Amino acid sequence: MTAARFDSPQTILTGGGSRKEAAALLSALHAHHSLIVVDPYFLTADFVTEIRSNLDRNGIANDVFGDLQPDPTDENVRAGTNRFREVGADSILAIGGGSALDVAKMIGVASTNAEPLSRFQGYHRIPNPGPPLVAMPTTAGTGSEATKVAVITDTDRNVKMMILDAKLMPAAAIVDYELTMSMPKPLTAHVGVDALTHGIEAYVSRKANPLTDPVALSCIRTIHANLRMAWADPGHAPAREAMSVAALQGGLAFTNSSVCLVHGMSRPLGLVFRLPHGLSNSVLLPTVTRFSWPGSKSRYGEVARAIDIASAKDSDESACEALSDWLDQLNTDLRVPRLRECCGGDVKQFRAALPKMAADALESGSPQNNPIVPAASQIMELFEVAW
Ligand SMILES: NC(=O)c1ccc[n+]([C@@H]2O[C@H](COP(=O)([O-])OP(=O)(O)OC[C@H]3O[C@@H](n4cnc5c(N)ncnc54)[C@H](O)[C@@H]3O)[C@@H](O)[C@H]2O)c1
Ligand SMILES: [Fe+2]
Repeated sequence: MTAARFDSPQTILTGGGSRKEAAALLSALHAHHSLIVVDPYFLTADFVTEIRSNLDRNGIANDVFGDLQPDPTDENVRAGTNRFREVGADSILAIGGGSALDVAKMIGVASTNAEPLSRFQGYHRIPNPGPPLVAMPTTAGTGSEATKVAVITDTDRNVKMMILDAKLMPAAAIVDYELTMSMPKPLTAHVGVDALTHGIEAYVSRKANPLTDPVALSCIRTIHANLRMAWADPGHAPAREAMSVAALQGGLAFTNSSVCLVHGMSRPLGLVFRLPHGLSNSVLLPTVTRFSWPGSKSRYGEVARAIDIASAKDSDESACEALSDWLDQLNTDLRVPRLRECCGGDVKQFRAALPKMAADALESGSPQNNPIVPAASQIMELFEVAW
């Protein structure tokens, strides 16, 4: 029986200026006509114009699609798929945060599969691969450039679908930290804690394996050493570069292990209260860690020791407590609000939403990878504790 499988893009470029290699990578993938799926924030950015000129010089026709929203929907994917077909594209260059990258991934497979998108929800449900896709993140968070995952809201059912299939893995990733330098402080904080959550959940998951463990630990260590600096001094290039690499590692780790309870709870929470993905994870991470560590004391203890907030002499229990405290302190330092502040303080509306949020969390499959698999009633209690 296979013990572990590790999927990744065929090529990963990192470093400042690596965006200039986009045309060369697309050429190597035999692209003749690329649809550039770009975050609306960068629609008129100079670097996108430069990339388009490079594509022209390489004989690759190109068109732009930027009609997408943060935490994107099936409508965004349908509009992009129509555009992909209209212009006769054969490849995709995705530029943006996780939202643009996920829309681009789904445009790819929607162009080669007739099924409605809702059929792809869950694990390994996509029949045909999409066209070659090169992914270039502009946030240091989701790691979507190196994951076989897309998260898309089904607007009919009001569900944030987690779609996991190796056919969603980009052919190439270009991780140019210079594109992340414009992130404002709250975005830096939220996507940074999302990346940290990927590292921690990949490491404590029931699906953790010897290939993902070192990548996850490196992600966690690098974020511990750099997130505060990237937040406090947005122009700090070394911290930005480190965070971009850590987010990439977080993606590589969780996509070959899994995410767990934080992500399971954060998707419905984000959908109901319109919280961006990074924020909905950030507000849950300390509470869910406190609940989960008794199920895997040695693993959470190792995380605490990896970032030197506990030593070999400390018991696993005290290392786990130290980790939970550090996560609380990190949120405080990065000015991450409490859940009640994000949800407008309306506790009645919050309580009314709990049963569906708990059911949707369990339905996603992610909580089942957690060291402690909660019942729906426990998920509702955890939401209350985080409130
Ligand atoms: N595919 C995966 O593996 C995976 C993993 C985790 C999360 N996700 C999904 O990714 C989405 C979130 O992605 P995200 O957290 O990267 O944010 P995002 O892509 O939603 O972007 C958030 C906001 O930041 C702006 N932005 C992006 N880059 C910027 C920059 N450099 N400077 C200034 N503004 C910038 C965007 O325009 C947007 O308004 C969610 O839908 C989430 O569910 C996907
Ligand atoms: Fe995430």
